[in-house]
Amino acid sequence: MNQMPQIPSETSFFRDIKVFEGLRKQIFPELLRRNYQQQQLNIWSAACSRGQEAYSLAMLLDDAFPLMVDRWTIQILASDISDEVLHQARSGVYSDLDIKRRLPKRFRDRYFHRQGNHWVICDEIRLMVQFRRIDLRQPLPPLPQMDLVFLRNLLIYFEVSQRTQLVNRLQPIFKPQGYLVLGASETLTSSIEGFRAILRDGAVFYEFCPSGDASGGDRPLL
Ligand SMILES: C[S@@+](CC[C@H](N)C(=O)[O-])C[C@H]1O[C@@H](n2cnc3c(N)ncnc32)[C@H](O)[C@@H]1O
Repeated sequence: MNQMPQIPSETSFFRDIKVFEGLRKQIFPELLRRNYQQQQLNIWSAACSRGQEAYSLAMLLDDAFPLMVDRWTIQILASDISDEVLHQARSGVYSDLDIKRRLPKRFRDRYFHRQGNHWVICDEIRLMVQFRRIDLRQPLPPLPQMDLVFLRNLLIYFEVSQRTQLVNRLQPIFKPQGYLVLGASETLTSSIEGFRAILRDGAVFYEFCPSGDASGGDRPLL
């Protein structure tokens, strides 16, 4: 196995706020319409670090789409290679600093309670997320077909060939027209087929187009 550089676990709640705005205003309403018959939504925060990304998605859904959360089967899988970050993610306990960085006060007041010097996420949100250890360099375990995959701020640490391998390996787990979200400084190279970049509320989402018609996106793949 290739020696990997030490990859930092830097993360925050609602990191790259435009992505969450794009989800709230356009992507989730679209998935709501698309999945109305099955009433099921599958989301994966791959390389989730200490859980803020997955919990941000759960809070956003609960806040903006409460009927969907009440009535649908919503599976939010969050995974990382590090047992240490997963342990903290499962606990749902965060420092003052974690909470002050980008988490809207309204969300803090609604979804967290204070415990000594820390903040604890409420059970309602914590239980929406399932954490698992998954090494993305290895063959993937069986997973449900995903509507939305967050793979943010990991590819930048991979060599180009590893990025291509990883994204190609992820393809079978996407539903047709499912969305891939990368970090703000990450893009898919042209060697990765099957996705087209679209802009939603100023954020880039990569739509999975299994038929091979990945042309005609809002912006070319770099
Ligand atoms: C910079 S953090 C990104 C966290 C979050 N996605 C975000 O954007 O805020 C990168 C994470 O990738 C995880 N990671 C590193 N190598 C991995 C691998 N091979 N498989 C899965 N996760 C990995 C690290 O443990 C770390 O938590």
